[in-house]
Amino acid sequence: MSHERTVIRGGLVITAADEVHADVLVEGERVVALAATGSPAAQAWEAERVIDATDCYVIPGGVDAHTHMELPFGGTAASDTFETGTRAAAVGGTTTIVDFAVQSVGHSLREGLDAWHAKAQGRCAIDYGFHMIMSDVTEHVLKEMDVLVEEGVTSFKLFMAYPGVFYSDDGRILRAMQRSAANGGLIMMHAENGIAIDVLVEQALAAGHTDPRYHGEVRRELLEAEATHRAIQLARVAGAPLYVVHVSCEQAVNELAQARDLGLNVFGETCPQYLFLSTDNLAEPDFEGAKYVCSTPLRPKEHQAVLWRALRTNDLSVVSTDHCPFCFVGQKELGRGDFSKIPNGLPGVENRMDLLHQAVLDGHISRRRWIELACATPARMFGLYPRKGTIAPGSDADIVIFDPHERYVMSAATHHMNVDYSAYEGRQMTGRARTVLSRGTPVVDAGRYVGHAGHGTFLPRSTSQYLI
Ligand code: URP
Ligand code: ZN
Ligand code: ZN
Ligand code: ZN
Repeated sequence: MSHERTVIRGGLVITAADEVHADVLVEGERVVALAATGSPAAQAWEAERVIDATDCYVIPGGVDAHTHMELPFGGTAASDTFETGTRAAAVGGTTTIVDFAVQSVGHSLREGLDAWHAKAQGRCAIDYGFHMIMSDVTEHVLKEMDVLVEEGVTSFKLFMAYPGVFYSDDGRILRAMQRSAANGGLIMMHAENGIAIDVLVEQALAAGHTDPRYHGEVRRELLEAEATHRAIQLARVAGAPLYVVHVSCEQAVNELAQARDLGLNVFGETCPQYLFLSTDNLAEPDFEGAKYVCSTPLRPKEHQAVLWRALRTNDLSVVSTDHCPFCFVGQKELGRGDFSKIPNGLPGVENRMDLLHQAVLDGHISRRRWIELACATPARMFGLYPRKGTIAPGSDADIVIFDPHERYVMSAATHHMNVDYSAYEGRQMTGRARTVLSRGTPVVDAGRYVGHAGHGTFLPRSTSQYLI
């Protein structure tokens, strides 16, 4: 292992806890010390590599706890591989992803996890972990959950949506929750009433409502709220903690807020698309709306203020991307004439850190809250803290030198994600990653990717640090 030393000088170090003008000393893969800029201690440090961070923020690498590289969906597969997707993540200042391995119906968790290890191993630019999607909760699978927790796959996603694909009924959900209550795992829930939604889909198509905007109309807010409520009650009955993914609307936030007011171990995540995009995008003409089809769906603009408030009050505690890109040409187009055949998902792994910095500039959140939502809390929630999510002695040297003044325009012409459009095309941005270290190694330098496939290693995770 290399003992090469790096000093990052003159930046404003921002963590979830503090903002300090400090130099950071890295040795090999780890942070070894912080000291006030200009102090005798910092000045005495000698290193092979010196990074000047004057006028920049020095922040922990982003932790994106919700990505779907290469996810098979709707007869196609998400267009980013682990190689292209983690490269894009790095350029965007994210140094850890937690992706979703998938159990298919009739197969074991082991088969699914092995398949995802094979896809990712040797290909990632940054470190990665796995959650496990459970699509077929049997007695055998419940036992396998314990083994996965031991192996560092400590969180399990269940779906109340997508009947016939990923869907679990309430009995299966309850059993999985009971198991997680016993083994320390965390259940992540896709909370939408998929049975009811499928009825509305059928009725919409029969009425000739085939455009992308009907995707948003049939996936009603009430059906997200109802599922969120049901998931919370099931988790209470099981005595299990619960993490609700991609929360999109006020009604679902209200369910989470009520549960949290009762002191329940219930947590919510939202994503940049719900904060920055809306049903206006879904309604774009000429089938352009298909670019914005994801589930839960985009909502009317009014919901955005509620989501921002919940991010401040901690009723929502994580912002991840749900990065699940499909090209417009050849993939989103599968749903021309039938919105239900549009593959669900948006690209965004490269954009999250910058969009949330924009929210700092816009006054929605503070700088420390930015780091808390994007780095520290996802790391704690999924058993990676303090190795990831902060800058402290002993932490991995996953560090971003972030220039808060640099201006650029988001565009598919310049992004690194392997997808032929940007959900944020033309958006004027201020602030972006200049240099990115992953375990002490530069993977981005002067905004350019300088990493390599295979640098990223699998992260076995401990159980959530949020559970009482
Ligand atoms: O539309 C989405 N979110 N696609 C990815 C799968 C999921 O439900 O998270
Ligand atoms: Zn060594
Ligand atoms: Zn989902
Ligand atoms: Zn997802």
